[in-house]
Amino acid sequence: MERKWWHSSVVYQIYPRSFNDSNGDGIGDINGIIEKLDYLKELGIDVIWLSPVYKSPNDDNGYDISDYCDIMDEFGTMEDMDKLLSEAKNRNIKIVMDLVVNHTSDEHKWFIEAKKSKDNEYRDYYIWRDPVNGKEPNDLGSCFSGSAWQYDEESGQYYLHLFSKKQPDLNWENEKVRKEVYNMMNFWVDKGIGGFRMDVIDLIGKVPDDSITGNGPKLHEYLQEMNKAALEGNDLLTVGETWGATPEVAKLYSNPERNELSMVFQFEHIGLDQIEGKEKWDVKPLDLLDLKKVLSKWQTELDGEGWNSLFWNNHDLPRIVSRWGNDKEYRVESAKMLATLLHGMKGTPYIYQGEELGMTNIRLENINEYNDIETLNMYKDRISKGYAHDDIMNSIYIKGRDNARTPMQWDDSENSGFTTGKPWLAVNRNYKDINAKKALEDKNSIFHHYKKLIDIRKHNDTIIYGDYKLLCPEDKNIFAYIRELNEDKILVVCNFYCDEVNFKLNHDSNFAEILLSNYSDSSTLLENLKLRPYEAIMYRLK
Ligand code: NOJ
Repeated sequence: MERKWWHSSVVYQIYPRSFNDSNGDGIGDINGIIEKLDYLKELGIDVIWLSPVYKSPNDDNGYDISDYCDIMDEFGTMEDMDKLLSEAKNRNIKIVMDLVVNHTSDEHKWFIEAKKSKDNEYRDYYIWRDPVNGKEPNDLGSCFSGSAWQYDEESGQYYLHLFSKKQPDLNWENEKVRKEVYNMMNFWVDKGIGGFRMDVIDLIGKVPDDSITGNGPKLHEYLQEMNKAALEGNDLLTVGETWGATPEVAKLYSNPERNELSMVFQFEHIGLDQIEGKEKWDVKPLDLLDLKKVLSKWQTELDGEGWNSLFWNNHDLPRIVSRWGNDKEYRVESAKMLATLLHGMKGTPYIYQGEELGMTNIRLENINEYNDIETLNMYKDRISKGYAHDDIMNSIYIKGRDNARTPMQWDDSENSGFTTGKPWLAVNRNYKDINAKKALEDKNSIFHHYKKLIDIRKHNDTIIYGDYKLLCPEDKNIFAYIRELNEDKILVVCNFYCDEVNFKLNHDSNFAEILLSNYSDSSTLLENLKLRPYEAIMYRLK
């Protein structure tokens, strides 16, 4: 496979609202990001994925865009954005923009026009249907609870919104829509961005009349068309958010011969605590055997025919240390263990802001303290269906999106140094203990562990291109694998729990060089290796 710059890159995701507030209005902004570029440089990342900064009424915190070529007032101006691009470039950091084109805001000028009348030239930019028997055209549901169809009194028709009713779905069947999108993409490409993260891109081929949403028949045709119109020849990183991707489907997107995307985000490992056939809020205990099976399947199946993205977190997901780790007494050890496991794999790693500090989930007492539309809609919906308040809150504590969106913890000053004003969402109370200033000062911090992992990747082709082989697949406590390229072998062995466990490896030599460990005195002898709570070691085998 031809080598690409993004094969060896590490991406850092910024959720601007929660990252750093430079003007005291309680909301993060672009100048706040510029202030922290040196921090990111220190960590060693190559790319920033910037969650949406475009004009938006913020029904879904920027994922409802009213102007793709302008910047949200709270975040700054286009001049600030240009400055961010050039300051990042000075530090060799590329910026990947969030491309949200499954839907717009209902305040986008296209939708404002479309709503005016059935024969408006923009009407067909969106998906309108007549009522059936006086009701919604069918029972398609919105990802944010309730029907996906919203009735429009004036025209007597329904429009489709797979997310909130302020996020009407664009009609990708309409060639004019597709052209508008590609032109807009070129506007950003011309500014020198490094690529696009494509929001719910697997939905653009939908056939709503047949209740097909993900992986529609024309999806890949559209992506190839998009590639020709806006990506080809620009050497960009493109990553699609594809909740419904299997490895087979992921190869369609990411096989370089097909000219679609660099890679996709698959979510199979993310759904492991969800009861099958139910909603994300219906949780079941996690099982390490499932995680090993799923991640290993993706490692081997995409090998040579596609490319993986590697991630634990994003702005929609609970914090990984509170999920697969132990956010109490072994917070530091388990956060480093999870980082080691992921960053030793093949693919492009993504770090979500605060992950490098081991930031944890939050528990807010009152539902009114939450901001996320998905959480709030679900709460109302479930209360109306008779669920108990405590059960709903418990699901929110485990899965709610605001877990990831609490302000970044920069230092131990008021509001964690995120803002001098009143933060738009509560700061986690643990910020005096968990913050960037403290992490930078402590050479053994989670931050420095991430930094070393990034550095190891940069200097080891085995980590970037080596084959992957899972070891001891039936072991219930240990996740271990070998990466191999030519003669070089790297072993990653991780204890996922707080009990001590033994690890055995059949290998010619008993000695190994430690590349990185989360304990200062891990054994260099592989025979009868005893792993302490959450111990994770990356070895080079001899
Ligand atoms: C996926 C984004 O990650 C999420 O935050 C958003 O709510 C939906 N897409 C809708 O744009």
